Amino acid sequence: MFIHRNRNLGAIVCGVLHLALAVGSLSGEDAVTAPFDAHLVGSPEGSAAFTFDRSVYEAEAKERAALPIGVFDSGIGGLTVFEALLTADNFDNETLKPGPDGKPDFEDERFIYLGDQANMPYGNYSKEGKTDYLRELILKDATFLLGNRHRSEAGADPRFDKPPVKAVVIACNTATAYGLDDLRAAVKRWNLPVPVIGVVEAGARGLLGDGQDRDQAIGVLATVGTCASEVYPKTIQSTLGRGGHAPAIVTQHGSADLAAIIEGEPGFDTPMAEQIENDVRALVETHRESRGGQSAIPLGTVMLGCTHFPLVLGEIENAFASLKTDPELAPWIADKRNYIDPAAWTARQLFQELARNRIRVQAAQQPATKHDAFYLSVPNPNFEEAVLSPEGGLDHAYKYGREIGRLEVEDTVVIPMTRAALTESGRRLVRDNLPESWSRLPAGEPEDLDGPPLVTAEAWAIADGETGELLWEYRGQEPRKTASITKTMAALVVLSLAEEDPAVLDEVVTFSEAADKTGGSTSSVKAGEKVTVREGLYGLLLPSGNDMGNALAEHFSPRLDPPTEAMLAEGLDNPVHARRANFIAEMNRLARKIGMENTFYRLAYGDGGTPAQKTSTAADLCRLGFHALSNPLLRKIVGTRRHLGTITLPDGSTREQPWENTNDLLGLDRGYDGIKTGFTRSAGRCLLASGKRGDRHLIVAVLGSDSAKARDTDARNLFRWAWRRMTIPTSDR
Ligand code: DGL
Repeated sequence: MFIHRNRNLGAIVCGVLHLALAVGSLSGEDAVTAPFDAHLVGSPEGSAAFTFDRSVYEAEAKERAALPIGVFDSGIGGLTVFEALLTADNFDNETLKPGPDGKPDFEDERFIYLGDQANMPYGNYSKEGKTDYLRELILKDATFLLGNRHRSEAGADPRFDKPPVKAVVIACNTATAYGLDDLRAAVKRWNLPVPVIGVVEAGARGLLGDGQDRDQAIGVLATVGTCASEVYPKTIQSTLGRGGHAPAIVTQHGSADLAAIIEGEPGFDTPMAEQIENDVRALVETHRESRGGQSAIPLGTVMLGCTHFPLVLGEIENAFASLKTDPELAPWIADKRNYIDPAAWTARQLFQELARNRIRVQAAQQPATKHDAFYLSVPNPNFEEAVLSPEGGLDHAYKYGREIGRLEVEDTVVIPMTRAALTESGRRLVRDNLPESWSRLPAGEPEDLDGPPLVTAEAWAIADGETGELLWEYRGQEPRKTASITKTMAALVVLSLAEEDPAVLDEVVTFSEAADKTGGSTSSVKAGEKVTVREGLYGLLLPSGNDMGNALAEHFSPRLDPPTEAMLAEGLDNPVHARRANFIAEMNRLARKIGMENTFYRLAYGDGGTPAQKTSTAADLCRLGFHALSNPLLRKIVGTRRHLGTITLPDGSTREQPWENTNDLLGLDRGYDGIKTGFTRSAGRCLLASGKRGDRHLIVAVLGSDSAKARDTDARNLFRWAWRRMTIPTSDR
């Protein structure tokens, strides 16, 4: 791993920065950036606040590609941009050509999000005459993302294990207005290969698309600060000019309070709907007044020039619709409003920048961090000079009275952002409007000592092994790739056929070339060799033989019904698996029959399908486990640690093939008696397991664990926790 802290590089960094400072002083030192540069020189390895370890950025582009992407805003509003990044599909991930390919553009990327909530609203620094302080805050946000330093909680010592970022997205309009140029210049001075993107340029590009009525006016709803900077009118006109269009009529209105109300900031008490109505009215009236008695040109396009506003788009549209019924204002509002959310366009620009710099993470590359990480700034409880409001935030006069250049002062600190750390209003808005962001935000509830253990698995479920009833789950209903656990269903199909006719188990399967050539884990049976169905089930389930999955599917397909149209459309029309399709269809029919509502199989041995096409859920797998274990032969096979298979060669002679069970829990002799492991890069480490303590029989499914060891530990911790909850006497635990 190349992310390391190299103190010897300090001298080089000092040299680079001294040079930079010398250049700075030639061009007249800037009051914000010059002290910042000097501050960085004092801590080249990134140990002080607002500094970072520069050595990380000396790595090759190929290595930097594994780093996450940094996104910051003054608060949670930037999550609207984050959501757009998570859901964007504007390009083909392979060819990089424009046009969706069914795979989200940033699916393999990881993100670090920072909401500088303690210092917001950014939009009000201009009216307090403090734009320089805002510029400094923006450099602080960026250095946080570039560095390793953070805290696990407000009062704790700093830690240095946050991954640095390879690109910075300023997901805040006000910060873009006041800080984009600064930050781009700083990245250049600091000699960092880090692209910086701001939302405003991207938003203006959104006006170039078709569907714009160029005879109508554009209204910009933003913060007071963004409007004061004139960044939108300027960028809109220059963007339209470059696109060969005539200048547009642009009217802006800056809201002093709406972003803070949306965020749930204490002290901003106007009801949201009332504030929105006031702001929309102010925009329309300003537009009418700006025309000074000339004929009405309606506002047709509305630029949502504040990150928080897309969260209340419905209410904004309602306000326009209701003003449209006012005969005085109606001519100034178009019949249909077209809204531009810069977030969507930011996603396009980011993709192009990453591609241009050759720092898109490669599908086969291990990202530097397993999950996205979210951070929030809060007042530093160890900095006594800070004046706090009764609600515990920075007092207004203190916040807007601070001076630049005091970089040794850390009056706010950055801690993890969790759902629990958001205000009530913020939590509701994110949950209801930004589902992808919400699902990635850690819960962060105070630790429940009786609660389930912390595990690395991304989803799990626990069911009663005697009744099949689902007892506990975490993301248990979330569709996921489930890798080789699929083989359990393949075996169940075979055994359900054997229930009707036991002779099925003695049928002989002849391995085809195609089955032999199946990639991945193998039973080591070769083309032309023969194995009975009974033996084949051991070869399928113990070493997790993909080849055996295909061989069994080919053997049984001719006697089974073909896939339905719906199944074909879901992926069973893949010609590669045509001779196995009836068997896979039967797996799906059986899944439905036993109530696996959220499962669809595309292969006999694993997942198949595109990355977006999922196979099953932890809850459904528990159901599968319950049915599988109710079959005595299947129960026996999945509880077997080692089996010597008998293989018949083409010349009629036989050989023995040892098959080891990949389920390591079986070796523990602690009541674990089956059933199936799974692993692929996209599924992570998975396990469907059965265990008994006393008369308590449980089935546990863990999906997406970090490693083979972690998967076993995750499952065991869940078993132990569940057994304890089921009030087993302590002596039996
Ligand atoms: N994120 C800011 C923006 O987009 C709004 C919130 C603030 O003023 O801090 O302009």
